[in-house]
Amino acid sequence: MEISANTQALAYLVSAVLFIFALKGLTHPSSARQGNYLGMLGMLIAIVATLAGSEVTSYGFIIAGVVAGALIGGVLAARVQMTAMPQLVAALHSFVGMAAVLVAIGTFLNRQAADTLNAVLMGELSAGIVIGAITFSGSVVAFGKLQGLISGAPVRFAGQHHLNALMGVLTLALAVHFAMTGSMTSLIVMTLLAFILGFTLIIPIGGADMPVIISMLNSYSGWAAAATGFTLHNNLLIIVGALVGFSGAILSYIMCRAMNRSILNVVFGGFGSETGGQESAGAVAADKGVKSASVEDAIYWMDDANRVIVIPGYGMAVAQAQHALKEMMELLEAKNVEVRFAIHPVAGRMPGHMNVLLAEADIPYDHVLEMDEINPEFASTDVALVVGANDVVNPAAKTDSSSPIYGMPILEAGKARHVYFLKRSMRPGYSGVDNLLFYQDNVSLIFGDAKDTIEGMVTALKGGGH
Ligand code: TAP
Repeated sequence: MEISANTQALAYLVSAVLFIFALKGLTHPSSARQGNYLGMLGMLIAIVATLAGSEVTSYGFIIAGVVAGALIGGVLAARVQMTAMPQLVAALHSFVGMAAVLVAIGTFLNRQAADTLNAVLMGELSAGIVIGAITFSGSVVAFGKLQGLISGAPVRFAGQHHLNALMGVLTLALAVHFAMTGSMTSLIVMTLLAFILGFTLIIPIGGADMPVIISMLNSYSGWAAAATGFTLHNNLLIIVGALVGFSGAILSYIMCRAMNRSILNVVFGGFGSETGGQESAGAVAADKGVKSASVEDAIYWMDDANRVIVIPGYGMAVAQAQHALKEMMELLEAKNVEVRFAIHPVAGRMPGHMNVLLAEADIPYDHVLEMDEINPEFASTDVALVVGANDVVNPAAKTDSSSPIYGMPILEAGKARHVYFLKRSMRPGYSGVDNLLFYQDNVSLIFGDAKDTIEGMVTALKGGGH
């Protein structure tokens, strides 16, 4: 069945509205699921309306592509670990970038053969190719860093920024030349340079800044899609591209603000190190004057506390301790202890990482509070339980102006009467910075895998001993 251009435009309008409501839904964990459903419905309508449009004349390749894509996507989504989600997102952005490059080059060759090129289209093609190529290779580097295939440490050399600036100017000049003349040589050199530029722009950025970069690349992939939308005269692609472009940009801004950094500082700063640092354990802790404690020590204070605040971090995701935490919360609440969860905007390895995991364990949303809401509560809290978090509670961010995390707002866990860190060793967090909180009088470390430790606490709370 073929639908008219008007019907297709109407369907696209409905999809666009659904996408906007989807984004709105994704702004809060309680509405995120519904937001996702609306997005899926919008995409279904968009795909059906596109396939039923007059531009599509044969379905063979499309069906093959849809089946292959759906299979790959389905398997990836089912298999991927929550902790590997950022690199999956990076890999998906690289596909969008490459698609933009291929569509633009394909359109150029077709329209050149049909002699229907015009100035506006050539401008769109240039933009699509350059943004798409930078998105592709930048995302591949981001994927490599997050997956541990490339060093997470910033790779820097003298004159790097000058070289990047030179390549940027050259790419831009070639893009203009290609748009004006349709020169094949300009097209090839511009495309290659843009691929290299994506690589050289992202390689100096450290692992700790990767989330900002991923969201920036997300924004680029949106602009690449919008450019493709102009090329294909597809209004929905333009709208969706702009939505992705802006939401990625806004998210990058929010993350930078949460780390008290400017976007330029992230892009040119080369901050961050590879995960972890020196290997050490309980003995080193004692050497350094750090107290280690047992599950029973912590339970002693938690058992008749008024309030316990749990601060989840990346280690909770690694240990998958969220379900055990839910059980612990219920046992404490049965003893009239108020339990709250404190979320730092950059806890974990991606925006909303902790919220997703806590939601997965059915921890009520009203128990989960953002940093600004919960910080005033720490001073009147009996126990702060830091579950696999580190950087997000490090007071060095406030007191040590030489620290790379200086200026990042933190969760004020140190103000609680007793603070227990659940971690496996004395290794630092993602930024590679030693945590000054370890050395504070009211702080003890309980060494071990976070899930094992919480399960031990659950057993102890049930009165089963440990
Ligand atoms: P981190 O500072 O990275 O600390 C995580 C801690 O978890 C580590 O010190 C580690 O110590 C511990 N850990 C790891 N596996 C564990 C396990 N199985 N059981 C118990 N503990 C375990 O995490 P954070 O406090 O969540 O801070 C996030 C950091 O990542 C920030 O620096 C942030 O800028 C950066 N970052 C954030 C994002 C986003 S958007 N959220 C993305 C990328 C990077 P042991 O090794 O001793 O166990």
